[in-house]
Amino acid sequence: MANDHEKEASARASLRFVQDGNIVGLGTGSTAAHAVRLLGERVRAGLKIRGIPTSTGTRTLALAAGIALTTLDEFQQLDVTIDGTDEFDPQLNLIKGGGGALLREKIIASASKQLVIIADSSKRVATLGKFPLPVEVIAFAEALVAKRIAALGAKVQRRQSADGKPFITDEGHHILDCYFGQIVDPPGLARVLSDMPGIVEHGLFIGMASVVLIATGDQIQEFRKK
Ligand code: A5P
Repeated sequence: MANDHEKEASARASLRFVQDGNIVGLGTGSTAAHAVRLLGERVRAGLKIRGIPTSTGTRTLALAAGIALTTLDEFQQLDVTIDGTDEFDPQLNLIKGGGGALLREKIIASASKQLVIIADSSKRVATLGKFPLPVEVIAFAEALVAKRIAALGAKVQRRQSADGKPFITDEGHHILDCYFGQIVDPPGLARVLSDMPGIVEHGLFIGMASVVLIATGDQIQEFRKK
């Protein structure tokens, strides 16, 4: 699969941002999974790091890869986090949460000196919003929040698991996937959503990415925060 090849290439390119002794945030999703596996190879070759996973799924992958783990209880600052994205725009604003881990991902990103985003070429967009924006909500408030987001112009759908039951995040919440089409003012929408009672977190990552590494075939392009 071309995309998977690009995901692995971008993951490989991110390894140079990780130094001996680092506390490393471990992202979630198929691209971040490549980074976890590749970091595991480096660890077996002698690299000394401790990882903080952004989901239970990544925790399992990291343990299997032989990466020593730690927690936010022990370290409130991380040197670097490597994570994927669903979309990124020219300002390096992101939509994240396709894998349902946006809450822990944003917490870890906010505590990291550097957020390195890795992606295949399909994730680069001129304007965010084609990918449905994931919004993590408290189940109690779900219908109310869905109505309010719909009033902002989005088509809102509760995420379901394969068994037809609501998808439950690692922190026990539901996710609303919000189809905006085009998000013309990502920082403005982020503020509106952050102010809405019942929303735990949303997948707009505004000004958080330090660098985006995107692979097109074997070519890596690096975009930096201005
Ligand atoms: C997980 O919640 C997401 O934020 C992922 O980082 C994002 O969905 C990208 O996933 P892939 O790397 O699988 O495309």
